[in-house]
Parts: sequence; C-alpha cells; structure tokens
Amino acid sequence: MPDEPIYFTTPIYYVNAEPHLGHTYTTVVADTLVRFWRQRGRDAFFVTGTDEHGDKIAQAAAKAGVEPKAFADRVSGLFRSTWEQTGLRPGWFVRTTDPAHMAFVQDVLRRIHARGDVYFSSYRGLYCTGCERFYQERELIDGVCPDHRTPPTEIAEENYFFRMQRYQERILALYESEPERITPDGYRREVLALLREPIGDLCISRPKSRLEWGIELPFDDRFVTYVWFDALLSYVSAVESAGRPELWPHVRHLIGKDILKTHAIYWPTMLLAAELPLFRALHVHGYWQMDQAKMSKSLGNVVRPLDVQARFGMDAFRYFLLREMAFGHDAEFSEAALVTRLNADLANGLGNLASRVLAMQQRYFGGTVQPLDPGPPELALREAFAGARRDFDHHVARLAFHRGLEAVWRALDLANKYVTDTAPFRLAKDPAQRPRVGAILHELCEVLRVSGQLLAPVLPETAARLFAQLGLPETDLADLDRPWGASFPPGHHTRPPEALFPRVDTPA
Ligand code: MSP
Repeated sequence: MPDEPIYFTTPIYYVNAEPHLGHTYTTVVADTLVRFWRQRGRDAFFVTGTDEHGDKIAQAAAKAGVEPKAFADRVSGLFRSTWEQTGLRPGWFVRTTDPAHMAFVQDVLRRIHARGDVYFSSYRGLYCTGCERFYQERELIDGVCPDHRTPPTEIAEENYFFRMQRYQERILALYESEPERITPDGYRREVLALLREPIGDLCISRPKSRLEWGIELPFDDRFVTYVWFDALLSYVSAVESAGRPELWPHVRHLIGKDILKTHAIYWPTMLLAAELPLFRALHVHGYWQMDQAKMSKSLGNVVRPLDVQARFGMDAFRYFLLREMAFGHDAEFSEAALVTRLNADLANGLGNLASRVLAMQQRYFGGTVQPLDPGPPELALREAFAGARRDFDHHVARLAFHRGLEAVWRALDLANKYVTDTAPFRLAKDPAQRPRVGAILHELCEVLRVSGQLLAPVLPETAARLFAQLGLPETDLADLDRPWGASFPPGHHTRPPEALFPRVDTPA
C-alpha cells in the first residue's frame, strides 16, 4: 500500500551516557529511512528522545551530585543538540519527563488496573541496573549479566505486577504466523524460544522508599512506575504530543539486539492490555564493536558523533555506518576503516567522477551542456543506473543499506570506466570530435544527477552540493522518475567543480 504513512522510532536513550556511536547508528538509520520514503512520496516520520527515569539515572545523578531532573535536562539537551548539529532531523523529540508523557503513562496504568490486569504481591528477584530489568537465573552467564558482565542485585520487596503471562499465547501465535513482525528472522527465532517457556508476570512498580525518581502510580502514591513500562509508552505518547496520533498503527521500531526482550515480549503484552494496536515490526540491529568488544561507556572505548563529524564530515560518517554494517549483524568500527572507505568510495569513486566531469564541462564548453547522442555504450550506462535504482530501492526498503549502496557503486564504477574507455580528454584535442565530447559529458551529467538523487537519503549534504554544482535546484533531488536527458535543456550551465570529499591522508 504505497500511500500509507510510515513511522520509525529509535530507542529513547538513557541519559546516563552522552551520545555515542551506538545511539548515532540507529538515529542515522531512522533519518535515512525517512528521507528515503519521503523522496518516494510517502508521509514518513521518525521519533527519538531520552529515557530519564529509573535506578540507573538516579544513581548517575547522585554520583554527579545533582538532582535527577537537572541531570536529565543537561544530558537530554546534549542529545537534542547533537542531532541538530549533525543534521539528523526527528519529527519529534520525546522526553519521559514531559508532563504529557507522564500523564499518558498514568492513564494507561489506570486502564490496565481497572480491567484487572494489575495485582499486588511480594517478589524476590535478580535485578541488573545496567539493563533495568530482572533476570531469570537461566539467562545469566556464570552468575553475571551477559551484557554488562556484572552480578545482578537481589531485590525482595512488595510491588505491583502486570499480568503479562495472560498475553503470552497471543503474542507467540502472532510471531509464528506473521514472521515479518521481527526482522532479521534470527531474532524472531530467539523470541520464539523465549516464548516457549513461561514468561511470568511483570513487576511494574518500585517502592518510593527505595526509588523516588519515576512516574507515580495513579492508584498508589507510595510507588513509582517501572522504567521500561514508562519508556516503551513514549513511542505512543510522542506521536500524540506531535499532533500525529494517526501514525501509531504504522510504527516500526528500530532497536539494538540488547533490548529485544523488552520490545518483543513486554511491549506487545502492554499494548494488548492497553487495547492499543500492535507495532508493525521490530527491526533489530547488532553491535558496533571496537577490537571485538562492544563499545560502551563502561569499557571506555567511546566514539563521539560530533568528533567524527568534525574530522571527516557527517556524510562520510553516515556512509560508513550504513555501508559497513549489514543491518542485524555486528560490525567493527575503526577510524582506519572509515578513512579507507572515505578515500576509496567517496573521494575516488564519486568525488573524483564529479570533479572530472564538471572540470571538462567547464574547460571545453564553458559549462554549457551539449546535446546527447546515445550509442550502445551510453545505453548500457543508462541501463546500469536504472538497475542501480531498482536494486537500491529493493534493498533499502528492506534495511539492507550496505547492499543498496553496493549497487549504486557498481554503477558508479561503470561510469568511471566509461570515462576511461571513451576518453573525452583525448578526443577533445581533435576539434572534429567536439560534439562527441559534449555528448559524453552530458551523459555523465545525467549519471551525476541520478547518483545525487539516489544517494540523497544517505548523503544529504553531498547531494545538495552536487546539485548546486550541476546547476540544478535542490528541489529536483526528489524528482526520481525524471526521464534521462530532461534535466539539462539546451543552454543549461553547470558550475566549476568543488571537491565533494577531500582525500584524507592515512596516518603512517
Ligand atoms: N533506554 C533504553 C531504551 C528504551 S526504548 C523504549 C536503552 N537505552 S540505551 O541508551 O542504553 O541504548 C539505546 C540503544 O543504543 C540500544 O538500541 C542499544 O542497542 C544501542 N547501542 C548501545 N551501544 C551500542 C553499540 N555499541 N552498537 C550498536 N548499538 C548499541 O537501552
């Protein structure tokens, strides 16, 4: 259904850490998908934000010696300004301390309480503050949390519970009959395995005597709401606050594999109890690793997006993230690998093609585009770019960004080969070959036009600069179905080239 709107979410990020590579990746994916779908005529929207309540934040604030709210304000502001500075443009930025969100959470709690889905009981369990969830003994590895590698704390207290178990069969049946609900499929199978054991009920409160930093339960003021119960509902409250509640049923959640259980099990049971439509899909990605270890604050190997942007430019960073990681799998981050891609694919493959074509256009014709005169090599080139468009669309719609980009670069390689084979720089020495040189360069201007359009969702700044150099208005970036040859009418002028991607010298 091409006209349906499409709504993506990133996780809302904990404010105990400053924006890093892991956060940036998911936000870049969401931003790219929104640009991609908008270019194809869809109403596309994405939400990101910050997760600000709970033990972990209360502890981080205490350590910093400030009140939790002041602490959250500062770090949430840092997330917001980082996305602004890096050109990542969410339609809404949600905070779990927004009064509208807090009222929404209380409303849902009131409803599920009224329908008998909440009870009071005592509990003893093993809690990981890093994950902000209880662990079952069998989920631990050598007694420690598999993610944080720290032993969980034993907590025994009286709390409110949500009858999650009631909904287990329904979500199991859903994931069995609708495999597209969790992608890649390996993660769906992981969830199915979890759902074949009893999932138990979910503890959804914390006594204020132990934790005050949270949303008060509407039916018992001695307790605050469990942080995940609060955080997950932000996906719905955000579109309500944004004035776009109709987007909710079209939602697709982008998440890392560490938060699969909370999203694939807790969340749909909550939605069923709250009588809200379920999400369309969970799209699960792997970890960025450095020297084989997950990048995280506790391990001290943090990559800050603003630093990478300052050194290499945001487009190069976006390209690397989307080209290097196969969505769903882990990938290795290193500056050396980024520089290699930047030099080989961006500076050489794309940047060099643009600067050669525009320089020859300038030198031989003062920038004026000449008439086309296609023969077999030109038609082959056009077919290669039509194929790149089909493959790019196919793969990006399935989140296989690396494959989509590979397809565009295959066509760009062919275009570079076309320059070498037709050798306009040699033909230009013969005045009789002038029309042929003009036709070759016009063909290549079309190649650059299509490349700019296809790559705009991934490389928005570069595409805009390329279009300016081609003398085309930025609004034409969205005109994907424009026929070959229609962009450069007689008398059209291109501008002198400016390097799109300066090569970066590799440290010795
Ligand atoms: N606050 C919760 C999410 C609540 S959503 C209702 C949370 N926050 S987080 O800040 O810890 O993590 C946010 C996301 O960053 C997760 O999807 C996690 O997978 C991702 N990443 C954190 N480190 C990562 C890498 N090194 N690589 C890729 N993504 C990783 O969890």
